[in-house]
Amino acid sequence: MLEPTPSVEIRGLMAELETLASISEAAAPSKITAPHKVTASSEIIAPVVTRVVFSNADLRARAYVKDLCQAAGLSIREDAVGNTFCRWAGSEPGLPAVATGSHIDAIPNAGAYDGTVGVLGGLEAIRALQRVGFQPRRSIELVIFTAEEPTRFGIGCLGSRMMGGVLSPEQALALRDRDGRGLEELRTAAGFTGNLKTVALASGHFHGFVELHIEQGPLLEREGLDLGIVTHIAAPASMRIAVEGEGGHAGAMLMPDRHDALAAAAELILALEAAAKTTGVIDTVATVGVCEVFPGAVNSVPSRVLLETDIRDTDASRRDGVLASLRVAAEEIASRRGVRIGFKLINADPPATCDTGILQAVQSATEQSGYTSKRMVSRAYHDSLFVARFAPVAMIFIPCRGGVSHRPDEYASPEWIAAGVDVLARTLAVLAS
Ligand code: GLV
Ligand code: MN
Ligand code: MN
Repeated sequence: MLEPTPSVEIRGLMAELETLASISEAAAPSKITAPHKVTASSEIIAPVVTRVVFSNADLRARAYVKDLCQAAGLSIREDAVGNTFCRWAGSEPGLPAVATGSHIDAIPNAGAYDGTVGVLGGLEAIRALQRVGFQPRRSIELVIFTAEEPTRFGIGCLGSRMMGGVLSPEQALALRDRDGRGLEELRTAAGFTGNLKTVALASGHFHGFVELHIEQGPLLEREGLDLGIVTHIAAPASMRIAVEGEGGHAGAMLMPDRHDALAAAAELILALEAAAKTTGVIDTVATVGVCEVFPGAVNSVPSRVLLETDIRDTDASRRDGVLASLRVAAEEIASRRGVRIGFKLINADPPATCDTGILQAVQSATEQSGYTSKRMVSRAYHDSLFVARFAPVAMIFIPCRGGVSHRPDEYASPEWIAAGVDVLARTLAVLAS
């Protein structure tokens, strides 16, 4: 039992989350009416957050969080891809540190809590421990991972993936964004220049890693639970698919002569949806979230389409079955329509299993504070998926209203966040002692 009890300064943390949300590439925050009454006026600020990695907003957000970390007396190290380690030195600094953290990049049109609760909540957990005079034996590090979101390079968890040695420097340097710009150019412009080989961390580098995150699903709120204790993280895969047809004049090109790339892509999208539904298992999900049409003119038959697909399952072999069915469907569509369909697999990762010892520490902390919880699977991916390659991990979920995430109306209440930070602080204290 941690004595005296750490107490979370939730008002300050909420204000920091709001400030961070205001650092966005998107237009200024607007007010929306909340589905549940959360303020006296039943209106909440719903900032539209867009913070793509290495954008100006990403760099300003990093600066804001680093300032807060410095104010808390943490020392800061940035690696060659911009992963940022903010360290509270323990009394035995040579021991592997205990780490927490998440990401502050955000997909286009996102909300204020995805990733940020794990970063600013992690910082508040450290400050709460500092306030009660806790002295860690192991150092405690807050990690801000680079590009958990796949928006720029099409691949999720860039920073943690490289940290886990899952993506080599050569593979990382071959990545391109949609404007053809590569990691080298973009990281250098952002001020990150070291040798990319040094990003990978050795097994055992961390004594343990605990990530706090919003659930991004509806179960905790629906079941009236305070917290989720994550036992597994589902296996994600993504692909870029290029459909090459034949363009031409939308008025003059006769229908029997057409090889319309978008019409073929539409069939492909439906084939993917059907393949995911065919498993009959709720854990299989598939999405086409990007569809770029060339040349993109109303009076021009589409000659080329780029799709980006996201396919996940708690069972990697079942997910791979969906990928295989999609390829079979693509062959048939391509030959019937006279188009070419090319696949580029971006990633197909195995699921991760959380560490039983850290899960037990989280469970005990939850019980000490009197919170209700359940063990659950994360269907979203997180940096923990890749930290698990070199350190024992666990995750703490807090509810989010309506299960909404990756939208501006994403919302987690101060009470939910305070509970998550409280349990995180207690868990870090046990692991660092
Ligand atoms: C993370 O943002 C995910 O897409 O699961
Ligand atoms: Mn996200
Ligand atoms: Mn996230």
